[in-house]
Amino acid sequence: MTRTFAARLTTRLLASLSLAASAALAAGPLQDGEQVYRDACAACHGPGPVDAPKYGDREAWAELIAEGQHVITAHGWVGVRAMPARGGHDELSIEEFARAVAHMANAAGADWRDPTGDATLLGRIRLEEADRRRQLALD
Ligand code: HEC
Repeated sequence: MTRTFAARLTTRLLASLSLAASAALAAGPLQDGEQVYRDACAACHGPGPVDAPKYGDREAWAELIAEGQHVITAHGWVGVRAMPARGGHDELSIEEFARAVAHMANAAGADWRDPTGDATLLGRIRLEEADRRRQLALD
C-alpha cells in the first residue's frame, strides 16, 4: 500500500519535473538564429573576403537549400572544407547552430523552420551527422 503510493508519487513527480524541463527548454535560454548568425557566422558569411556562401545571396544558397535542411545543417555542424565545425563556436548547441542555418537559408529564399522541439527534424540532422562522421573517418 505505502509502496504503491510512493511509486505513484514518484511517477507524478517525475512527470512534473520533465514537464518543467521541457517548458524551460521551450522558453529557451537558447539564442535565436539571428543572434547566433551575428555573433558566430557573420564574420565569414557576412560581407567580407571569406569565400563562404554569403548572407542573402540567393545564387550561392540555391544549391545548398536544394540539398535539404538536415543535410547542410549536419555538414556545417561537423565541418566541411573551409567551414570549421560549428563555425568554430563549440559553445553552440545543435539547436542554436540549426537556427542560424535556417536564418541564413531563409534570408536566401528558403522557408525552413526552427528545429527546436521538432524531434523528427533533429533526428534527421543527427542521422546525417553520424553518416558524415563515418564518411570523414573513411576518407
Ligand atoms: C571561419 C569562417 C566561417 C564561420 C565563422 C562560419 N562559416 Fe559556415 N562556411 C564557411 C565556408 C568557407 C563555407 C563554404 C565551405 C565550402 O563549400 O568549401 C561555409 C559553409 C557553410 C554551410 C554549407 C555547408 C555545406 O553543406 O556545404 C553552412 C550550412 C554553414 N556554413 C553554416 C554556418 C553557420 C550556421 C555558422 C555560424 C554558427 C557558420 N557557418 C560560421 C566559413 C565559415
